[in-house]
Amino acid sequence: MKLIVEKNYENISRTAANIIADKVLAKPGIVLGLATGSTPIGTYKELIKMYKEGILDFSEVRSFNLDEYVGLDENNPYSYRYFMNENLFDHINIKKENIHVPDGKAENMDEYCKDYDRLIEKAGGIDVQILGIGENGHIAFIEPDTSLPIGTSVVELTEDTIVVNSRFFNSVDEVPRTAVSMGIGSILKAKSILLLANGRRKADAINSILECERISTEIPASFLLLHPDVTIIVDEEAYSKSK
Ligand code: PGA
Repeated sequence: MKLIVEKNYENISRTAANIIADKVLAKPGIVLGLATGSTPIGTYKELIKMYKEGILDFSEVRSFNLDEYVGLDENNPYSYRYFMNENLFDHINIKKENIHVPDGKAENMDEYCKDYDRLIEKAGGIDVQILGIGENGHIAFIEPDTSLPIGTSVVELTEDTIVVNSRFFNSVDEVPRTAVSMGIGSILKAKSILLLANGRRKADAINSILECERISTEIPASFLLLHPDVTIIVDEEAYSKSK
């Protein structure tokens, strides 16, 4: 595992975007694993800037997002597909047919989830997976539990996550209780992983990976320690409990 400690959020975003840009330049048909949430927004802004400056071309890039709320479609401003359109896809030349965000309104969810993992495999697997981390140590919507889903699955959100994510909604009651999320196996199959975290509220979660001696389903992010190519990029606040 590689750890990069940056001064602030802007530097995290720039460093992450530079790593991704190098990979896109080296492999124009790269498969990107993308995340939502506040953490990657700055990275996406940097990638958009590089596209507008003519440095990056996304015309051959394929993407798979980690998760989506069950019951929300892309026209719903709270959906992750909407978020991705607003914060990245609408500003770069990625082809619509190359974008994959789990469908929160799929009719047969069990079949749909299996197909999502098959689709990733058919694309050749994810080359670089971007991850945020929850305050409770979740990655994607893989919540702390006594066991974790291996493949893409419908998952129940914990009360903690519902409360934390309610900041994006009008009220906590509007936050969906379930989501469709890549599983821990889907994520660990990515060839490389970039985990980003900023701010003091992430310090415990980051420390639980950096100081981890035994992986635990109660800290889903601890499974990243099994992966051979993980880079964690944090700011000084997120690193403050690990010094
Ligand atoms: P955040 O969410 O980027 O909005 O902090 C991260 C996560 O919950 O995985």
